[in-house]
Amino acid sequence: MKISKRFANVGDSSTLKITSLAKNMKSKNIDVAILAAGEPDFDTPDDIKKKAIEAIKEGFTGYTPVRGTNELLELVCEKFKIDNNIEYKPENIIVSTGAKQSIYNILQALCDEDTEVILLAPYWVSYIEMVKMTGATPVVVDTSLDDFRINIERIKGSINKRTRMIIINSPNNPTGIVYTEKELRELSDLIVENNIYCISDEIYEKIIYTPNKHYSIASFNERIKDLTFTVNGLSKTYAMTGWRIGYVGGEKKLIEKALMVQTHSTSCTSSISQKAAVAALKLDNNIVIRMTDEFKKRREFLMKKIERIDGLKYVSPQGAFYLFVDFRNFLGKKFKTSEDICTKLLEDYKVAVIPGGAFGAEGFVRISYAASMHEIEKGIDRIEKFLKENI
Ligand SMILES: Cc1ncc(COP(=O)(O)O)c(C=O)c1O
Repeated sequence: MKISKRFANVGDSSTLKITSLAKNMKSKNIDVAILAAGEPDFDTPDDIKKKAIEAIKEGFTGYTPVRGTNELLELVCEKFKIDNNIEYKPENIIVSTGAKQSIYNILQALCDEDTEVILLAPYWVSYIEMVKMTGATPVVVDTSLDDFRINIERIKGSINKRTRMIIINSPNNPTGIVYTEKELRELSDLIVENNIYCISDEIYEKIIYTPNKHYSIASFNERIKDLTFTVNGLSKTYAMTGWRIGYVGGEKKLIEKALMVQTHSTSCTSSISQKAAVAALKLDNNIVIRMTDEFKKRREFLMKKIERIDGLKYVSPQGAFYLFVDFRNFLGKKFKTSEDICTKLLEDYKVAVIPGGAFGAEGFVRISYAASMHEIEKGIDRIEKFLKENI
């Protein structure tokens, strides 16, 4: 078998793999508690669906400009101005097939084989594989040593002349950590001093629990704005994972290069989804607030349940919909890795959760609370049973 060197050691997505295994079990009527998914369990709001149906009926079904329709680009700029205090024009934006593609386009356009990209572990599973796909080398800075927060000295120590970029994600998947303004300002200074690029993945921006506040690094000054690619999308905020709409804002000439990646790979994203996205961005915030309130209730419920289990610790989430639980006390001869634990949990206890190793944090397990209270309760009871019977 001959395969490209760049793809030789690219791994699968554990999140997608476990979720699809669990869904498959469910379709065979096996009672699995699925606490693995990275998607809201709510349905897309009706107003958004209606616009998509209208688009189909009106025959809005052809290619659009690769970077997106004008009306959507204008709305994305308005959103960046109002929510993030960043001034972008349509020429600074590309709408893509999910935030995942936005990140991929930027990495492909800007990274080479002799470059390095800094990732802060735990990181979203796809960053590391996407970096490998460019031929660049991922350089991992472990934030678990600093309560999952930004340690400027540690990041500084990993910068050298090959460093092309750093990827940050706040609110974070899998920890739920939200970076403070101070942390981000310090990081912004470091990025500017070293003249490297930054991808700021802000996809969970609106799923945030008071008193935490979201800050966009690109909003601090013109210099950091030109070096940063602000990524966002509709998947999490509007329960639109399957519609595949993400977008990125950045410096015009660099964005042009990223646009070429999209032009020659997928062209525009779905015209129908773009119409739906216009409706989503025009919705008032109440829908998102209601969804976040529901996540908040589940978050508290889940934290209380986990606290009752001896030996488990967790990172208190400030945003997103995941609880990152420390299982290191239970690693040993029987279960060497968090993957061993998650495999046993799925096969014998019928609960689907994601091993921390996939996020660069061995010994942890990510529990998603984008699931009903009933499902959460069932899942945690099974985890408790697993610990009693196996440890
Ligand atoms: C941190 C992070 N970034 C990006 C994405 C991708 O989102 P999209 O559905 O817009 O491609 C996800 C999805 O799980 C995510 O967790």
